[in-house]
Amino acid sequence: MIENQWYAILPSKAVKVNQIVGVKRLNLDLAIFRNDKGEIGCVVDQCTHRGAALSKGKVKGECIKCPFHGLEFNEKGQCAFIPANGRMSEADLSRYNVKHYKVSENNGILYLWYGDLDKITGEPPFFNKDVDASYVYSEIEDHWNSHYSRCIENQLDVVHLPFVHHNTIGRGNKTLVNGPKVEFVPGGIITSANNEVDVGQNPKTAENCVYQSYIFKPSLSERMDESHQ
Ligand code: FES
Repeated sequence: MIENQWYAILPSKAVKVNQIVGVKRLNLDLAIFRNDKGEIGCVVDQCTHRGAALSKGKVKGECIKCPFHGLEFNEKGQCAFIPANGRMSEADLSRYNVKHYKVSENNGILYLWYGDLDKITGEPPFFNKDVDASYVYSEIEDHWNSHYSRCIENQLDVVHLPFVHHNTIGRGNKTLVNGPKVEFVPGGIITSANNEVDVGQNPKTAENCVYQSYIFKPSLSERMDESHQ
């Protein structure tokens, strides 16, 4: 994985108040919970005491409670209560803590910061900053039995469209590929995908291509506007 990035891991609605969801994401077993205030917590799905799956436990107040001996961990993974020590015992937040991950909830999607917590750079990117209220979107969960880098590569591969998807997104027999134009920008890349029907013309060079789709960050769209002028 590329470290120090936000990754979309679940739809927000998949984690309801006072519920825990156990999922494997980014090759990590995670217990994601929503406390009684609606806040999201995400910890490794393995209790520091005897290794029980925290995802099989319960949400209690602001904490996730282990099903085995009842240790309670807050959204920072700190052990806030040990039942065996008695209800009057004082929490020692320096011990028994589980690893936790920063999760941000934006536009109905849960994003996990994969990397060093002190390297978090703002909120996850999203592509709706430039669009008006008539714009609608939805999320879909689709499991591909493939390494994630192959999935990204596939999304960028416009050459296969008229062959594999000739009667859907690749219709029109646009086998000639202009560019592609690719620009690296802070936080991502901008790339063009403007295939054409081959009538004997030469493909456009990257310099002569234009971007044809929306970009997710205002700063990027501003750059796009500039490139159109
Ligand atoms: S294994 Fe979790 S409290 Fe003991």
